[in-house]
Amino acid sequence: MGSNKVAVLVLGMAGSGKSTLMQGLKSYTSRHKLSSYFVNLDPAVRKTPAFEPNIDICDTVDYHELMKSTKMGPNGAIMTSLNLYATKFNEVLSIIESKDVEFVFIDTPGQIEVFTWSASGQLIAGALASSMPVIILYAIDTVRSASPVTFASNMLYACSVMYRLRLPIVLAFTKTDLVAADKAFEWISDPQVLADALQDDSRYLGSMSTSMAFMLESVYSNLPVAGVSAVTSLGMDDVIEKIREARVTYNDVF
Ligand code: GTP
Repeated sequence: MGSNKVAVLVLGMAGSGKSTLMQGLKSYTSRHKLSSYFVNLDPAVRKTPAFEPNIDICDTVDYHELMKSTKMGPNGAIMTSLNLYATKFNEVLSIIESKDVEFVFIDTPGQIEVFTWSASGQLIAGALASSMPVIILYAIDTVRSASPVTFASNMLYACSVMYRLRLPIVLAFTKTDLVAADKAFEWISDPQVLADALQDDSRYLGSMSTSMAFMLESVYSNLPVAGVSAVTSLGMDDVIEKIREARVTYNDVF
């Protein structure tokens, strides 16, 4: 763990902007001459992912063929593809280890639970963590976070992912060219404002909303947060800075 290398697992709900964020990170790091490497672990992409990965699960596992030949549904086939790939991940890890880069960005399947709740996701994250610091970059759709209930649910999910994978997390509020992340930042920094917004938005389970806002505060008030647009690149520098900061403190915590 002597080098500066850090693996960044990009996780988030379906449609939260993971792949577009990967694409944005690729062009940002290339423009700013930050050495980086890109891995795609989403087997279900219809064609080559837009960010053109250096290593692509689709080159090893044919998800569409698997679905046809086994008659599995989409989620079963994604899970099986990831399981098959996990058995070969040591080879992938050797390649990653041999690259003299600062950042290894890894895109994950659209449905977050395929990675976070599967044995193969655990295995891949564990293999990476045995070799280099690993940080979760958790993509949150800012547009969908306008509702305090959706925001709080997503934050709970982020906490659960962090708890499950036992890795440090950087929260990236995406699509900020469409909606500014100010409201989300305010809710993160002030649990009372979030508690009030939750009460207004959803009067049922009122006391649960209040306790949840304060419970979340104890977990996420110290989490690094950035707002970013993959379209305009605004905030990309902040994402990189937050990843670097998490990398620096990684060895103190893990
Ligand atoms: P799945 O892996 O398919 O679940 O989605 P994902 O999390 O990889 O999200 P994806 O990058 O496919 O983005 C989902 C939608 O949001 C697409 O229509 C993107 O074009 C759009 N999108 C993503 N990032 C941004 C952004 O920064 N700005 C804008 N305006 N749209 C974005």
